[in-house]
Amino acid sequence: MSLSVIILAAGQGTRMKSDLPKVLHPISGLPMLHYAIKAAKALSDDITVVLFHQADRVRENIESAFEGIRFRIQDHANYPGTGGAVMNVETRHDRILVLNGDMPLVTAESLRPLVESDADIVMSVFDLQNPSGYGRVVVENGEVQAIVEEKDCTEEQKRIKTVNAGVYVFKKEIMDRYLPLLSNDNAQAEYYLTDLVKMARDEGRHIKPVWVEEEAFKGVNSRYDLAHAEEIMQERIREKWMRAGVTMHLPRTIYIDSRAVFHGDCTLENGVTIHGETIVADSHIKSHTVIEDADIRNSSCGPMARVRPGSILEDTHIGNFVEVKKSHLKGVKAGHLSYLGDAEIGEGTNIGAGTITCNYDGVKKYKTKIGKNVFVGSDTQFVAPVTVEDNVMIAAGTTVTEDVKEGALAISRTPQKIVENFFHRFFKTGKR
Ligand code: UD1
Ligand code: MG
Repeated sequence: MSLSVIILAAGQGTRMKSDLPKVLHPISGLPMLHYAIKAAKALSDDITVVLFHQADRVRENIESAFEGIRFRIQDHANYPGTGGAVMNVETRHDRILVLNGDMPLVTAESLRPLVESDADIVMSVFDLQNPSGYGRVVVENGEVQAIVEEKDCTEEQKRIKTVNAGVYVFKKEIMDRYLPLLSNDNAQAEYYLTDLVKMARDEGRHIKPVWVEEEAFKGVNSRYDLAHAEEIMQERIREKWMRAGVTMHLPRTIYIDSRAVFHGDCTLENGVTIHGETIVADSHIKSHTVIEDADIRNSSCGPMARVRPGSILEDTHIGNFVEVKKSHLKGVKAGHLSYLGDAEIGEGTNIGAGTITCNYDGVKKYKTKIGKNVFVGSDTQFVAPVTVEDNVMIAAGTTVTEDVKEGALAISRTPQKIVENFFHRFFKTGKR
């Protein structure tokens, strides 16, 4: 791979109106910058990310997810702008792909036509009915003559529909020659990478426009753009998994994290949300269930169940309003209205409606262990830490505070009292 990549991520992202750096805003569970880096990794072994605003925060995030990425801090005070961003970046190869960090929908496939073209500068363009916000590209005789930023456009140039998508492949010698010549004599007093194009053209260099699919090159500048990019990303994720054998009811109502993985025969009903690094295999997830960082195999969940991080469900059924957190359930049925946190529950065990593991004493969390073939009556509380062995019955309404041995019954109830005719006397109904 004789291609270096520079990813521009130094901008502040003012239009996001956020303390979080723009490139760390998440799309389908991952910071948007991760997508540009993934695309770059498929094309190059030499990637530099240019940072400035909250550089440490962005760098730490990237280093926790990727190896072998280089970083450069832009001299933003003296050289602001996209041209300033690529100044003095060391690259190993003689062709350089420049990508924006705020393009989460870009893929290696969408970049290939640019990378495979040969010219002094290859640049991405597309035609827009409403080109406002983008730099306009002047194309004559199949060659780019200039790029004019909107703020610097004449009225006539504003009517140009061909715009700069913001991704380029430069020959290294072009960057070496023209970057030192850039000036900031423009409306924003910035060093524009786009001015390189005009300078090179004036000296007879070849600048090839490559029309690219608009969707993949959309830049995210506001929260509105962020939401729109999220919708496109979700559609891609759902399509991928439907093609891989996942049935989805009303797919547009389903949200799936880009890290989630499905195996075998799965169904997701409408309104299902899957966050984090969740694995779902041969399972049926019913309407409006929310799952996060969990592992679900040969099981059914919901409708309206919640499976929280660290949970493993195998051969299990959980029904409506059952919440499971950091628990391992194997061969378990918990049909209704329960909270099962920090629990380990064995095969053949039935959890009655309203069962609660009291796993937190206000300071620490404790574990509940329930063995195989345990029948847990409705409205049981397990005050953890507590262990229930195999083949046990827990009577409805019991508060389990002490361990229960194999084969036993646990029951804790206030004895029932009957007061004859109490109703009639209390309400003075005249009956006795
Ligand atoms: C840029 C292009 C414009 C193009 C558009 C496509 C220039 C001068 N303009 O405009 O022609 O139509 O992209 O989306 O290049 N950045 C830095 N350092 C800086 C400034 C920006 O690293 O000093 C980074 C930003 O973090 C961002 C990228 O460069 O990832 C693009 O910057 P942005 O301000 O969004 O440029 P646009 O105004 O969109
Ligand atoms: Mg932009």
